[in-house]
Amino acid sequence: MSGKFITIEGLDGCGKSTHVKLLADWLEDQGYKVVCTDEPTDGPMGKLLKRILIGEFKVPVEVEVSLFAADRMQHLAGVILPAIEDGKIVLNERYVHSSIAYQTSRGATKQMVEKANEHALKPDLAVLIDVSAEAALSRIKKERKLDEFEKDLKLQRAVRRKYLGIARTGVLKVVKGNQPLEKVQANLRDLVAKVL
Ligand code: TYD
Repeated sequence: MSGKFITIEGLDGCGKSTHVKLLADWLEDQGYKVVCTDEPTDGPMGKLLKRILIGEFKVPVEVEVSLFAADRMQHLAGVILPAIEDGKIVLNERYVHSSIAYQTSRGATKQMVEKANEHALKPDLAVLIDVSAEAALSRIKKERKLDEFEKDLKLQRAVRRKYLGIARTGVLKVVKGNQPLEKVQANLRDLVAKVL
């Protein structure tokens, strides 16, 4: 079996984690070996990013771009590429499209983000679970405290617009997240099946 690299994108609260788990179960039932992973990672760069996200300290957006890209390169080398070489299907929550959507909404240019991520492997499939900023926020508010990005509804709205802009170029497929869970999962499975 040849390995595959699939990335799942969307606002916090769009249901990424739930759907990744369901996709993994479905793929494993068919005999595929699956690795579920996410960014920012729990590695040293990811940990630093998480401290920035909870507002512990502030950095210029250029540093944000570089740190997310560095965390990603480490993730690729240590987790993603070895799994793909091993014939596994990698389901990654967030990837380069997160950096384009979030960091350009926070003042970075698209060129800056693309340059920092120029060596990042292209996914076989990238999917956006699209929900409104309001719907996403109301979902996470019920579960936990919000981080600095999540508190900012204007930022979340901008991120969604950026995601939809990327989707219009065709590199990011869209699944409507405001449908019943089974329907969202079925739409995701249809897209995944096409790249297997
Ligand atoms: P998130 O998926 O919420 O991670 P966790 O569930 O482990 O807390 O990601 C945290 C935040 O990081 C989220 O608001 C989006 C942001 N982010 C970026 O701004 N750029 C990026 O490149 C990535 C990967 C995430």
